[in-house]
Amino acid sequence: MVRTSAPPADTTTVLSVLSLKGGVGKTSLVLGLAGAAEARGIPTLVVDLDPQANATSALDPVAAPYSVSDVLHDARPGVATEAIVASCWGPDVQLIPSERALEHRAAETAPGSERRLRTTLLGVTSSYRLVLIDCPPNLGELTRNALYASDRALVVTEPSFFAVQSAAQAVDAIEVARNSGHEELALMGIIATRVRPRFAEHKYRLAELREAFGDAVLPPIPDRTAIQQAQGACVPVQRWRSASGKAASDAFDVLLDEALAPVRR
Ligand SMILES: Nc1ncnc2c1ncn2[C@@H]1O[C@H](COP(=O)(O)OP(=O)(O)O)[C@@H](O)[C@H]1O
Ligand SMILES: [Mg+2]
Repeated sequence: MVRTSAPPADTTTVLSVLSLKGGVGKTSLVLGLAGAAEARGIPTLVVDLDPQANATSALDPVAAPYSVSDVLHDARPGVATEAIVASCWGPDVQLIPSERALEHRAAETAPGSERRLRTTLLGVTSSYRLVLIDCPPNLGELTRNALYASDRALVVTEPSFFAVQSAAQAVDAIEVARNSGHEELALMGIIATRVRPRFAEHKYRLAELREAFGDAVLPPIPDRTAIQQAQGACVPVQRWRSASGKAASDAFDVLLDEALAPVRR
């Protein structure tokens, strides 16, 4: 267990990053935001809620005695604190790691089971200014748990033919949570990643997204190789010294400002 030396944050933003499917850039967004926060000295907790554990690999904790799977199995209020470990990025980025066994938790559904993560995080999130929940590549039980534990949700999509349809399904999942007793949950926005701004197809798909969702569409994250290179080296992209790293960092900085801004309802 790791505790922050910082006093409790005045406000905490708990943000879920979700999408209908995998490979669209959720984990990269979580890591990009965590890196931007780290560069500003903002105490941040990453909750890896994907059994593929990609965020856990990138944040490379020295030891991880408990995972988020153990936390959900235990389910006691506040027990998540026992699973928090230091990341290799520095003291401001901490992690609740994932593991393959988390798959089993997705199958355990019962009335109220979508609130398990929220219960286990009680009294835990207030030590951080930012809590980022990296969701699995679907809108099932684990993603529902993320939504009920969050006050904001960010929908990620790729700039493809399926973008509007995929984003709409994720927005619906947020609405279902809001209409089922979690009214505090707000949509932070919809964001396209891996965008090549001069590629006509991407321009067209971005315009389609804006037509469907208006100003809920956030400035896109560009396709930059530094994002992949930094992940491979287990460092934040903000420390990757190249034009590509700088372009990625700038995009994540803009997004972090939006994530930390007061919720517009
Ligand atoms: N903006 C980007 N530019 C370049 N590569 C990216 C970008 N976003 C994601 N990737 C790469 O695409 C792949 C899938 O991204 P990932 O974040 O793991 O998606 P998800 O978490 O939705 O499955 C990874 O190899 C990642 O490094
Ligand atoms: Mg992922």
